[in-house]
Amino acid sequence: MATENQSGPSGRAFSGIQPTGTIHLGNYLGAIKNWVDFQDTTDGIYCVVDLHAFSVPREPGEVGAATLEAARDLLAIGIDPERSILFVQSDVRQHTELAWFMQCSAAFGELRRMTQFKDKSESNDFVSAALFTYPALQAADILLYDTDVVPVGDDQRQHVEFTRDVAQRFNATYGDVLVVPEHYIPPAGARIMDLQHPENKMSKSAVSELGTIFFTDSESDIIKKLKKAVTDNDGEVRFDPESKPGVSNLLNVLAVAKGTDPVSEAEGYSQYGPLKADAAEAVLEIVRPIQKRRQELDDGDVRAILADGADRARAKATEVMDRVRGAVQLL
Ligand code: TYM
Repeated sequence: MATENQSGPSGRAFSGIQPTGTIHLGNYLGAIKNWVDFQDTTDGIYCVVDLHAFSVPREPGEVGAATLEAARDLLAIGIDPERSILFVQSDVRQHTELAWFMQCSAAFGELRRMTQFKDKSESNDFVSAALFTYPALQAADILLYDTDVVPVGDDQRQHVEFTRDVAQRFNATYGDVLVVPEHYIPPAGARIMDLQHPENKMSKSAVSELGTIFFTDSESDIIKKLKKAVTDNDGEVRFDPESKPGVSNLLNVLAVAKGTDPVSEAEGYSQYGPLKADAAEAVLEIVRPIQKRRQELDDGDVRAILADGADRARAKATEVMDRVRGAVQLL
């Protein structure tokens, strides 16, 4: 069971990221930072969820190449293969097998209520059936490892709730088979907003490149993006996400990067310029060592870590999938 002590939750932690482009500041502050920190208190399993990426149309090879880069990013950020398992979803076939049973336990109506499906189905010309059933695969990812806690950003809250619901429904029919997980959504940083459109969350597919800070951006680009961040005209530095989304987002970035809180950060500023400059410096302090470590990791090492991670993940996933097969009593 996930219990929270002063340094974070305990038990088994599992989370995943789609390989759909370079990791950005929102991914880091909302989720990956916690994956790294929780390595001290939890038994962590982290996954590059490549199969999820195929739910929208992809070119051959595109997802594979991005998978290697995402794994390199996670290692550079601080996922430590000695303490955590890092692997690629498609290397462990039990994910798609359990996903079938999760689809069978999911109601059409609850899948239809998923806001991410609504958003993505509006912005894609081809709406695949997989985009609709996507949360069932995500539930399988989590449930295959007897997960206690799922560290994610706020946009994944609904998917983790869905996971709990299908797990409970499955257990009600087949017995106490699946561990029902809890989410961990950080108090600050769970929703980093687009720097140009602070009413939208920061994402890989932003309308303007200036809205998203990528971990591969140069120092000058990071400084430029924060300098050009949209604020407002009243000139007052105050943490108020409702009426001052741009300024509040900058305060949030600064506070999460420094490990402080946005309300007290606001007290130190009377103008937007110095706030933007300090937010840029705080982000650069995080990004610089990560970029350096990234360059030091060669493809062979990353692939070897993933192969070893897949072996370790498969051993656990096989155990749970065998339990599921036994519980449903296949012939
Ligand atoms: P993905 O790949 O979109 O994002 C990875 C993680 O980054 C968080 N995140 C953010 N946090 C704060 N502010 C933002 N602007 C921001 N943008 C993204 C996400 O909340 C997420 O934690 N469906 C998942 C991947 C997934 C998964 C799983 C996660 C598949 N199976 C099992 C957990 C457990 C997704 O698309 O995340």
